[in-house]
Amino acid sequence: MTKPISLTLTTTDLDALAGAEGKLAIVVTPDGKMDQPARRVNRLTKGAVARLTESKKWEKMKPGEGFVIGFPVGLAAEALSVVKLDRRPKLDEARKAGAELARFKGDAALTLAASNQGRLDELALGLILRGYAFTTHQTEERDAIQDARFMVNKPEEQEQALASIRARAEGVFFTRDLVSEPANVLTTQEFADRLEAMRDLGLKVEVLEEDKLTDLGMGALLGVGQGSESPSKVVVMEWTGGGDEAPLALVGKGVVFDTGGISLKPAAGMEDMTMDMGGAGVVSGVMRTLALRKAKANVVGLVGLVENMPDGRAQRPGDVVRSMKGDTIEVINTDAEGRLVLADVLWYAQERFRPAGVIDLATLTGAIIIGLGHENAGVFSNDNGFANSFLRAARAEEEGAWRLPLGKAYDKLIKSDIADMKNTGGRPAGSITAAQFLQRFIKEDCPWIHLDIAGVAHVKSDTALAPKGATGWGVLALDRLVRDGYEADPAADG
Ligand code: BES
Ligand code: MN
Ligand code: ZN
Repeated sequence: MTKPISLTLTTTDLDALAGAEGKLAIVVTPDGKMDQPARRVNRLTKGAVARLTESKKWEKMKPGEGFVIGFPVGLAAEALSVVKLDRRPKLDEARKAGAELARFKGDAALTLAASNQGRLDELALGLILRGYAFTTHQTEERDAIQDARFMVNKPEEQEQALASIRARAEGVFFTRDLVSEPANVLTTQEFADRLEAMRDLGLKVEVLEEDKLTDLGMGALLGVGQGSESPSKVVVMEWTGGGDEAPLALVGKGVVFDTGGISLKPAAGMEDMTMDMGGAGVVSGVMRTLALRKAKANVVGLVGLVENMPDGRAQRPGDVVRSMKGDTIEVINTDAEGRLVLADVLWYAQERFRPAGVIDLATLTGAIIIGLGHENAGVFSNDNGFANSFLRAARAEEEGAWRLPLGKAYDKLIKSDIADMKNTGGRPAGSITAAQFLQRFIKEDCPWIHLDIAGVAHVKSDTALAPKGATGWGVLALDRLVRDGYEADPAADG
């Protein structure tokens, strides 16, 4: 796994500032108030910090932004970053400040001297998340921060907050690595192996193989994978940190590569379909975070792992398959495969676990990118309270999410002449008809949210907390949803 920047907390050592190597960072409040380390650095640099904070430049900088002074006089550091940040910053400002510090090419060390800065944990999260790079397949060594040292007044008081940050960062990194990994490496077998390795963290992990899936009657899922050399699998991860209450179920689309099947996709951009397991990636990352921080909640994660390939044995347009639920589906387009996978895994999750709620995540439709771009995931739900609690969590974590409608009126678009339904409704409302299809596999009284993450799982330009590529969108929001809504006694932790 990609290793997060390693972070150590020490007490403030004013004498060490002059000799700190790599990047040195200090924090100054927007109105120019300096703490002890900042004052020391100002003196060492013969007033450079004060000149900055009294300048027009400083006035124009937003909270969380930093100004970098290169090869500063009086310091051993290659760069001095003066970060503009309140003592009690907003969460996004603290993360942004951390994210800016991650962008440093040069020596691999960072020292942040911030004696009594608030929300240092969130700053650390920004630093770690923005410091991600998928370099597994690059032979040349990377020129970026690897070690960070935070000098603070009371390191022991920050340790616990940092442990929680590390759990979240590791979950996000796990997701990003899975999503970034090419399909010749991340086969269904390799994916299942990586999930099985999480038994070490106390998760119960079970892999259902094709014969078992056949016995269960998962004809919709199996139809998608039947043209691939890689066997289809369903992996079930259980975290039982709560009492005996019904679990929250997270279900993910894990198409390790989507060629479109016999309804073959065009060549241009097809390489992006290595990320078509993004939903399963998020589910896996959340489960990792919950296990690492020993969440006091019951959550099950289920992922359907298949590869959609054209082949002599591949399913054809026009085929009719029978789902585990019993409903039959006419496969009009073999490229609308994600919903076929989810149909069976959703049904299995409800039958086996009787969950208190189900959330599925999937890179399901290109149409959601047309509608919402790369800023928001599409949110569909049969339960307003459940949907709102997710939207609140997503807003708090600044992970874009926007609700779209469901409705009976859309059903006529997926009506089949020869089966119970067909798997595509044509171009109009493409994301909604996909969600409408999924709802056929949700029991009447089961609160359910469907997240179409095709636009947000993988992006072509840098975001606030991620370099371009896999974002890990959703791990933080879902972790927060669990923390706020499912952990035994929210009051106990303050
Ligand atoms: N995996 C794709 C959706 C997708 C598109 C994800 C772009 C990420 C980026 C999905 O399986 C798919 O092919 N959907 C089709 C559905 C259509 C055939 C009804 C689509 O969106 O074109
Ligand atoms: Mn497809
Ligand atoms: Zn797909």
